[in-house]
Order: sequence, then C-alpha cells, then structure tokens
Amino acid sequence: MKDVDSIAALSLKEKIIQKKIVLAVIGLGYVGLPLALENAKSGFLVLGIDKDSDKVAQVNLGNSYIRDVRDSDLLQVVSRGRLSATTSFGVLERADVVIICVPTPLTATREPDLSYVTNAALEIAKRLHRGQLITLESTTYPGTTEQVVQPILEKTGLKVGRDLFLAFSPERVDPGNIKYTTKNTSKIVGGVTPACLDLACTFYSQTLQVVPVSSPAVAEITKLFENTYRAVNIALVNELMFLCDRMGIDVWEVVDAAGTKPFGIQTFYPGPGVGGHCIPIDPFYLSWKAKEYSYNTKFIEMAGEINAEATQHVFKKVYRVLNNRKKSINGSRILVIGVAYKKDIDDVRESPALRIIAMLLDEQADVVYHDPYVPSITLANSVSLKSIVLSEDEIKKADCMLILTDHSCLDYNWLTEHAAVIIDARNATKDVKTGREKIVKI
Ligand SMILES: NC(=O)c1ccc[n+]([C@@H]2O[C@H](COP(=O)([O-])OP(=O)(O)OC[C@H]3O[C@@H](n4cnc5c(N)ncnc54)[C@H](O)[C@@H]3O)[C@@H](O)[C@H]2O)c1
Repeated sequence: MKDVDSIAALSLKEKIIQKKIVLAVIGLGYVGLPLALENAKSGFLVLGIDKDSDKVAQVNLGNSYIRDVRDSDLLQVVSRGRLSATTSFGVLERADVVIICVPTPLTATREPDLSYVTNAALEIAKRLHRGQLITLESTTYPGTTEQVVQPILEKTGLKVGRDLFLAFSPERVDPGNIKYTTKNTSKIVGGVTPACLDLACTFYSQTLQVVPVSSPAVAEITKLFENTYRAVNIALVNELMFLCDRMGIDVWEVVDAAGTKPFGIQTFYPGPGVGGHCIPIDPFYLSWKAKEYSYNTKFIEMAGEINAEATQHVFKKVYRVLNNRKKSINGSRILVIGVAYKKDIDDVRESPALRIIAMLLDEQADVVYHDPYVPSITLANSVSLKSIVLSEDEIKKADCMLILTDHSCLDYNWLTEHAAVIIDARNATKDVKTGREKIVKI
C-alpha cells in the first residue's frame, strides 16, 4: 500500500502530465506575465494574481504592459479562457501548482526585503490544501525557501514533502533578449524533499529544459552567483574604462579586441553604471547572508562601489566636456538620450540615468530627455520629466547630448549630425560616419 506522501505526489504528478492542473502565478510583472503566458500556451489553465488592479484589467483585456509579451499572444490565451487575472487570492483554493514571482528589493538600509514573499506565502497558507506544489521564483538569499516560506506553510499543520510540495526555481529571464527567452532558457530546480524535486521537475519540464539540483539553497545561491558574476565583470570593465580614460585609450576598442579571443574571456561592456531589478540588488542578498557566516564578500562590495563610481564618472565627464567649451553645468541644456537601464527595454528601475539626471538637476542644469520606450520618469526627489519629441531644433538647442542607453531604433547618424557635442556612455555612435569629432566617449 502506498504511503500518504506518494499518494499525494502521484496524483499531482499524473495531473501535471495530463495537463489537468490549475496553475496560479502570484505577481504578474516582468517575470510572472511571460511565465503565465508560456504555461497557458502549453495547455495549462493559468490564474494570474496581482495586487495591482490596473495590471489585472490589462491582462484580462489581452493588453500587454511587458515589451517582451506580444498583445496578440496574450489575447489568444485570454480569449480561449486559458489565462485570466484577478486581485483576489481566493482563486488559490482551485490551484494545484502555485508559483510566486513577487519583487525582492532591498530596504532603505540595503537589507533584503522579503515582505512581498512572506505576504504571498501567508495568502497561500490561508488556502493551502493537500497535494499542492508551491514554487518560489523570486530571487533571494540561500535559505529563504526552507527557513522563511516553509515555516509559514507548515503552520497550517500540513507538512512539506508529505501533504504539500515546495521548491525553489529561480527565474533567469533577460528582458529585451530576443535570442534567449523564458521559453528557451533552462530552469534550475531545487526541492525541499526528493518528492518536492520530482514534482517540481515534472511540472517545469512540461515547458522547459530542467536542471535539477540537490536543494532549494543550491538553486537560490546559483541564481545569486549568476548575477554576481555579471556585476563583478561589469565592474572590472568599468575599472578598465576609468584607466583607459586617463590614458587616452578607447576602452571600447580594447574590449572588442579582447573579445576576439575564442576562449577564456567573455565580453562585458562598460557603461554609466548598473540598473534593473537584478544586478544592483541580487549580489547584496548574498553579501547580507554571508555576514551570518562571519564572511565578508569582498568582490561584491567592490563591484558595487566601482559600478556606482561609473555613474559619477559619467557625471564628471559632462562637467569636463562643458568646461572645455567654457560652459558650466549650471544653466546648460543637456539632452539625455535613453533612460531605460539597458537598450530596447522600458524598465527604469535602478537606472543610472535617473541618478545622473538627478545630479545634473541638482547642479541647475536644464535637463530634457528622449526615450522611445519611457514616456515619463519620476526621480527620487519626486521631480517628474516627460520624454520630449526629438527634432533638429531640440537637438541643436542642447549644449550637450548625453547618450545613456543605446536603443537600437534611434538614428545615431542623425543625432550626431545636429548635436553640438555628444557624450556617448554606451558606444552607441560606433558606426557613425561623419561628425565623429563631436563624440566624446566615457
Ligand atoms: N525583471 C527581471 O529581469 C528579473 C529576472 C530574473 C528574476 N527576477 C526576479 O523575479 C522577481 C520578480 O521581479 P519582476 O521584475 O517580475 O518584478 P515586477 O515588479 O515587475 O513584478 C512583480 C509583481 O508582483 C506584484 N505583487 C507584489 N506583491 C504582491 C503580492 N503580495 N501579491 C500579488 N502580487 C504582488 C506587483 O504588483 C508586480 O506586478 C524578483 O525577485 C526579481 O529579482 C527578475
């Protein structure tokens, strides 16, 4: 006779394979919406839950607010009844599998803020029932699944591995990347017990290639390592940029030349600092946790400092360029091109552009910006700006153009033709043929 554990697990496994489960996705943001869509496309019935009623209304109309999700794809699954959204957690009572994709920011004192995760876990616990699989996808420090989420769920009296199943599977999506999407990026999965791992792998392997690991903590730290690797390598190339700038060497040429080596190097590019919900935040989840083990993660701290210095470096460049032209920042009109934290996306979270604009405004510059994907921005001091429409006049009116994001759709030949001087923090003007004497690289 089968024990309780295997009966609950077997019946859920069977339902997953037969695509008869109801999947709930909590948090329909950059991660949750593409995930909900892919699962709905693969044949699961998906219920999206978000506390933002605007997002919920948009999803139910088939309107995407995430650039990587096409309206037509969303509309198709919504009109077929495969995906619907709600602000009500009551639908969790019907869910067989629940995925948590809520934010994991830092607090004002730069400590992990798990309040969104714990709130979601508390809502799940209120409706928890036997045979459910819960997976956490929000990026977090090692130990969160077993030390934070599991106790909340087990307070109900149900036991993980016997009555319900719990796993961590980090989301690795790279917004704006057309080659690697949610669909074709493999998924790390770590379960609390072997049954949890088996069920989570069964579920994820319906849509993706799965990489099982031995525990949720391994999966949690793997994700943090991936993003720390990026933060550290970006810092390294930013440091090279500081040095090349002093030596009068073009750092972009150096990086491109080094990138021709077919092994032993991966190309990272310098820039005005790091942004987004991952690189400036995730490494600090790891350094915070490391302190509990009396360990100081030196690379992480140093990378954070160097990447912050890159933002200052760009600001100082504006000062130097204007000074060379016998102008001050005070009163100069500065046209910023691109405010998203990287090219071809509309996300300004933690974007260095916002910090640079705030610094320029503090020094009384007359700042305007254009970003084809970001109609307006609000700075930390609550000042709001709207993206201006680009015209020859607007470009000529500026004392200095500052390219902070290299969106592919912009015509850099045209921008260069009419600009007085350009500070290019992204090498966006690399292919511009005429007017190169006006371009200053960072
Ligand atoms: N954006 C990325 O590129 C990316 C990539 C990989 C991993 N991640 C990680 O995924 C997680 C989610 O990030 P995101 O970029 O999708 O965030 P997001 O802010 O775009 O989306 C999160 C959504 O969760 C909703 N929400 C917050 N608390 C909620 C609650 N208690 N109940 C229901 N909904 C709630 C918010 O309204 C929002 O719509 C984070 O841990 C992040 O680090 C993000």
